Amino acid sequence: MKFELTEEQLAVQEAAREFAQRECLPGVIERDTQMKFASEQIKMMGELGFLGMMTSPEYGGGGMDTISYALAMEEISKVDNSCSVCMSVNNSLVCWGIETYGTEAQKLKYLTKLATGEWIGAFCLSEPEAGSDATMQRTTAVDMGDHYVLNGTKNWITNGGSSSVHLVVAQTNPEKRHKGINAFIVETSWDGVVIGAKEDKLGIRSSDTHTILYNDVKVPKENRIGEDGFGFKFAMKVLSGGRIGIAAQALGIAAGAYELSLKYSKEREAFGKPIAKHQAIAFKLADMATEIEAARLLVHRAAWLKDIGQDYVSAASMAKLFASDVAMRHTVEAVQIHGGYGFVKEYHVERLMRDAKITQIYEGTSEIQKLVISRNILRGKLYEPILQTTT
Ligand code: CAA
Repeated sequence: MKFELTEEQLAVQEAAREFAQRECLPGVIERDTQMKFASEQIKMMGELGFLGMMTSPEYGGGGMDTISYALAMEEISKVDNSCSVCMSVNNSLVCWGIETYGTEAQKLKYLTKLATGEWIGAFCLSEPEAGSDATMQRTTAVDMGDHYVLNGTKNWITNGGSSSVHLVVAQTNPEKRHKGINAFIVETSWDGVVIGAKEDKLGIRSSDTHTILYNDVKVPKENRIGEDGFGFKFAMKVLSGGRIGIAAQALGIAAGAYELSLKYSKEREAFGKPIAKHQAIAFKLADMATEIEAARLLVHRAAWLKDIGQDYVSAASMAKLFASDVAMRHTVEAVQIHGGYGFVKEYHVERLMRDAKITQIYEGTSEIQKLVISRNILRGKLYEPILQTTT
């Protein structure tokens, strides 16, 4: 069993860390306060290859493994989670979904632009009445022969206002319930695509979250992904991989809060010594470091299972469940360690605490992750202990 990163993975980690500190940190507080999308940073992320990390080079991507992607997500999430959620959706949901299940024509037309960041993608599954229960799609796609007509409303869409392409999940055949659902590649420039209100959120405030309306949008048949009725499974499959990205984001939030807390507690003195030397703070740091390391192992294991082609559904849910709880718990502790300074924007930990909450909600709430894990346990489908997996 090896716990070492390869030279390539270390180089990606270093490049992401350097990018986050140099390009994302300046202005992150103002963007958060003003809900300003980080267009310049996202453009640079595309140029540097962070938006199509796992996509094959033949479609303009970096051809990297999922562990490298998780490392980059962690580093960028230590600093700016509005940038990292954009990166996560584009990489894991949109690019991976099209590369894995799209046709060659779809890959050439869309993936090449999405993997390079020329276009940004969004994943449109959630609806006003279909969040956790994703089978209850009210958006309809009526089959008209050579095209579909799409109507409906999608909620909480990350990159909603800044994307050129949406992957839209819609009901084509309601009698078949989830087997009547399809997924489509929709260009946002098409008639009938309306970008609705931008959400004013607790956290990831500068990420571009919108309601989207589709009013009689004509979608060519060749833009359907997979066979007729594949849409629900498609959504579930991309979300399983997406959960590794969000787990890495949660890990980055926790690790970022820990690093800031460690620095602060070594500098800040109280009762004649740095507060890190008081057991009350030292024990908090020990708990943070331990749980962050455990979360990192779960994230890297899920990524590794995906890379070696094994079932990673439960592993991804476990990583997201645990890492998001660690992020929430330890960003609260980070604010506590910083005392009054933790409560003001300048010290960054209050933003990380607000950002942490969404990692327990999006791409499946913590309760949904428990549902996925427990169902797999009961079906006898939970991956085997680690030694059996590697033999
Ligand atoms: N991979 C492949 N297939 C899967 C699957 C997976 N991970 N999970 C389920 N399926 C298949 C099942 O095998 C089943 O297929 P059959 O009918 O052929 O047997 C089918 O899908 C239906 O599965 P279930 O019976 O388990 O469906 P369910 O409705 O009981 O529960 C759920 C499924 C796990 C609760 C699912 O609805 C779910 O994950 N909900 C959460 C949705 C979610 O994560 N939304 C996030 C929005 S996107 C987002 O947040 C992005 C962003 O902007 C950041």
